[in-house]
Amino acid sequence: MDWGLKSRMADIVRPEDGRAVMLAVDHGYFLGPTERLEDPAAAVGPLLEHCDSLMVTRGVLRNCVDAARRVPVVLRVSGGASIVGADLSDERITTSVKEAVRLNASAVAMSVFVGARHEHQTIAGLGRLVNEAEEYGIPVLAVTAVGKEMARDARYLSLACRIAAEQGARIVKTYYCEGFEKVAGSCPVPVIIAGGKKIPEADALRLAADAVAAGAAGVDMGRNIWQSDSPVPMIKAVRSIVHGGAGAGEAYSEHLGGPAA
Ligand code: 5RP
Repeated sequence: MDWGLKSRMADIVRPEDGRAVMLAVDHGYFLGPTERLEDPAAAVGPLLEHCDSLMVTRGVLRNCVDAARRVPVVLRVSGGASIVGADLSDERITTSVKEAVRLNASAVAMSVFVGARHEHQTIAGLGRLVNEAEEYGIPVLAVTAVGKEMARDARYLSLACRIAAEQGARIVKTYYCEGFEKVAGSCPVPVIIAGGKKIPEADALRLAADAVAAGAAGVDMGRNIWQSDSPVPMIKAVRSIVHGGAGAGEAYSEHLGGPAA
């Protein structure tokens, strides 16, 4: 790995412990003004100091994130579909690597839709993005299993994550599932988990703790942080699990006040 790539990877997966707390706020690229992310600047501002990196589109980055805050950026560079459109898997690269360089991104991210109609387009697109981004020492994060109809089980998620890593993704984001050890253990690059739809805080913390215990390098969590009534305590709790080795109950009582429900 060359120096630039290594340095950018260290922005995302902390070298001290090999763990990552990525805050995901890229949802608007296909969901529009999602609940509690209507005003991204207000939602994201107080959380920035508690994450290792921020996953974001160029539109929100340019307009809603203060460049002086210097948070490592994981720039979503794919899009082209919407929640009201015909096929969520019909994504292409929409933001150039040159733009990622201009925006000082530490990594670029795109979705791959294994098993979906546009599987070929997105997997081949990942290979091309890796070719191009690594010319500039920029690692690629592959996002797997968003909006898919196939069961999100260990068999499917292992398949999707491994394919993404084989194409050259340096980090893979997926979902937690039963038997996650198989997913993490058969993927040669760090795997981080999305939080998914908003669930009670105690459950989301359990999800993070179980994922890390099963081999995840951390989280790329969005809605379970900024849709919480207590977003700052929630991200602090997640951080204490990922980086501090806290259990879910311990993290809940320390940051969210009292024993978990
Ligand atoms: C959507 C994404 C999101 O960043 C990802 O799903 C993480 O957010 P959440 O924790 O809300 O699921 O990639 O395509």
